[in-house]
Amino acid sequence: MRIITGNPGTGKHTVAKILAKNLKLELVDINKIAISEGAAEKNGQVFDVDVRKLKKILNNNMPSNALLVGHLAPYIISKNKVEIAVVLRRNPYNLERVYKKRKYNKKKSLENLGSEIIGITYYDTIKNIGRKKTFQFDTTNESISSTVKKIESLFAKGKTEKSDIDWLKIVSEKNDLKRFFPY
Ligand SMILES: Nc1ncnc2c1ncn2[C@@H]1O[C@H](COP(=O)(O)OP(=O)(O)O)[C@@H](O)[C@H]1O
Ligand SMILES: [Mg+2]
Repeated sequence: MRIITGNPGTGKHTVAKILAKNLKLELVDINKIAISEGAAEKNGQVFDVDVRKLKKILNNNMPSNALLVGHLAPYIISKNKVEIAVVLRRNPYNLERVYKKRKYNKKKSLENLGSEIIGITYYDTIKNIGRKKTFQFDTTNESISSTVKKIESLFAKGKTEKSDIDWLKIVSEKNDLKRFFPY
């Protein structure tokens, strides 16, 4: 199976829907399954997810042409089931605007921005799925169709150039570390 992951607002669902349609992959949305299978509970603005329960559900009945989408994907799927993992990334200043529009509260916004700045999802995907199978794409100044094309090419060839993304450098150069990490 292939997975599309990344912090909220990086473009996962937009891209995954188009990829699934173009490549005839079966789109499996972790959030939807977590809710429908009773593995998620709403707690304020966040969903507390029962990762163990989700692991059981998702590692068992997955078709080989599945395209699994969700920020929890790297924590749920066994390494040997994944051919390629895509991590979408987005500049935190840009992401902040997405979160304002979505009306995320300060805590939820800062948690996700901090995670994006440090690159937690990318790091954890490499750790859990493997460096060779993990590829990140910056969607900040990319059209949706350009991102889709890049991922289609990756899926077809099984590899692509690795890109370096360092938001921490940009944020510290702008003297904004305190703003994103106030506590
Ligand atoms: N290159 C891109 N790839 C994917 N989405 C993009 C891109 N550029 C802009 N967007 C926009 O980003 C927003 C967030 O996308 P969404 O798919 O909801 O993210 P996620 O599922 O990761 O929360 C959408 O409004 C989408 O249209
Ligand atoms: Mg989404």
